[in-house]
Amino acid sequence: MNLSVNKPITIAITGASGSIYALRTLEILLKQGFKINLICSETALKVAKLELNFNFESKEVLQKHFGEFYPNLTLNSASNLAAQVSSGSFPSQGMIIIPCSMGALGRIACGTSNDLIARSADVCLKERSKLILVVRETPLNSIHLQNMLTVSQAGGIILPAMPAFYHQPQTIDDLVNFVIGKTLDVFGIENNLFERWLSSSFK
Ligand SMILES: Cc1cc2nc3c(=O)[nH]c(=O)nc-3n(C[C@H](O)[C@H](O)[C@H](O)COP(=O)(O)O)c2cc1C
Repeated sequence: MNLSVNKPITIAITGASGSIYALRTLEILLKQGFKINLICSETALKVAKLELNFNFESKEVLQKHFGEFYPNLTLNSASNLAAQVSSGSFPSQGMIIIPCSMGALGRIACGTSNDLIARSADVCLKERSKLILVVRETPLNSIHLQNMLTVSQAGGIILPAMPAFYHQPQTIDDLVNFVIGKTLDVFGIENNLFERWLSSSFK
């Protein structure tokens, strides 16, 4: 798939822990010039308030945070099933759900399409466009595992928020950037967010 900054990417934030992954992803993509359709679940808003003291629902907060890049961000209500991203005819180049709760995973695996997040993900699967679920939960029960297999078999990519340590992270940012770097790699967006493996450093 050829990525173009002119075709929007959908970013969904759900109520799993790790709102920082979402905020950083938005910062990076907007800075690179991408147009973003943002959807936040109700619980995502609460978790982000707790973890970051950040309000993804407030246009003023988003405008202040993203500054000159804000005009490329479209905020969609999760209950608005009539939003553009709800339709397969909308020219999106894919969707990243970051972080992705087990609830959202389950709804996508069952094809409920009951809110804009589940519906947009369903559209990605039916249109064969890219869908990445940055899932976060631990431990995983067999329902979670089966749902991940179902979504993977339907064409979605399960990318657990699971940082590695071989690049010798020093800060939380290093860990966060590793997960986002892997996500963008899989989506097809060039980035230098983490140090790539060099076998020569393994002696
Ligand atoms: C502080 C907090 C942290 C949570 N962390 C997780 C998590 O890491 N993974 C997960 O699957 N659910 C987590 N949950 C539970 C989900 O938020 C909950 O299942 C919610 O219904 C998910 O809704 P959503 O998928 O519409 O966002 C957390 C809830 C809270 C309040």
